[in-house]
Amino acid sequence: MDTLTLPRPDDWHLHLRDGALLEAVAPQAAAVFSRAIIMPNLQPPVTTVEQAAAYRQRILAALPAGSTFEPLMTLYLTDNTPPEEIARAAASGFVHAVKLYPAGATTHSDAGVTDLLLCYDALAAMEEHGLPLLIHGERTGPELDIFERETAFIDDVLQPLLDRHPRLRVVLEHVTTAEGAELVTGDDPRLAGTFTPQHLLYNRNDLLVGGLKPHYYCMPILKREADREALLEAATSGHPRVFLGTDSAPHPQGAKESACGCAGCYTAPIALSLYAEAFEAAGALGRLADFAGRNGPAFYGLPVNQETVTLERAPLEVPASYPGGDAPVVPLRAGETLAWRLRQP
Ligand code: NCD
Ligand code: ZN
Repeated sequence: MDTLTLPRPDDWHLHLRDGALLEAVAPQAAAVFSRAIIMPNLQPPVTTVEQAAAYRQRILAALPAGSTFEPLMTLYLTDNTPPEEIARAAASGFVHAVKLYPAGATTHSDAGVTDLLLCYDALAAMEEHGLPLLIHGERTGPELDIFERETAFIDDVLQPLLDRHPRLRVVLEHVTTAEGAELVTGDDPRLAGTFTPQHLLYNRNDLLVGGLKPHYYCMPILKREADREALLEAATSGHPRVFLGTDSAPHPQGAKESACGCAGCYTAPIALSLYAEAFEAAGALGRLADFAGRNGPAFYGLPVNQETVTLERAPLEVPASYPGGDAPVVPLRAGETLAWRLRQP
């Protein structure tokens, strides 16, 4: 197979940032994706519908003329999100989900939730209005080993949450462990999972062996090879509730290549090529269209994009960096050649 046509994909987990960086990266995402679930972890975070509306306008203003890219907004859940804000979000038409960052789990998560019991009423409102909860699934705390945070979250936080809120719809985002993969490919219709290209392609050796590679550093951190294999199997399984979420998370070059480097891989412009590489390695290119273009809209109750794109087997040179506004942004696989690229219209 040398070409593959699929519905123009959507990204169900994308960081677009703000200001000059937003202006630089929004057109790059919009060149690939039709819609994207936009992460609310700005500083300060997007916690109200009013802030989401203003951020949405800034995103639209950053798009090239004629772009039809649609930002699907989210609210950042805090210990004190009022249930009335959830009702307003559900009525807004442009807020499609609420994001849970456990406090301290990742980049810009200081305002995150310290105890989900404090969010009981907000979560009950989400059940009532059918607004999904998008979860950064890591338990935090100094005693918890960084490689065990996702499994600890699933056992200690996620299962009790699903028991307390039986109608809550949940996306376990950027699944990184075999346990997470097994959970989201089970038969619980409330649960879906997104998979990043880096977690399908790499394990923690790629990050740590032969030198520390900051551009492979993201949260949740890359896991063991057995986890990667389980993730690839889940993502390519044809299960209807697994879909594409790049977690493309641009940081200025100096913030990544640093004595205390930020977590986040920048992949949006090359993500489809990376997913094609992973799916081809699994012998499952034929399943990429559902993963990238159909399963996500089905979960969110949105139409599948009518427009199509074509991937072709042709070399794609990944640049050393992209302009990022104030400083360059180095993508994953900078300077390398990828085997698949999007055919330009
Ligand atoms: C994300 C970021 O930089 O905002 N970083 C990351 O490593 N994935 C935050 C997140 O999604 O965890
Ligand atoms: Zn993210």
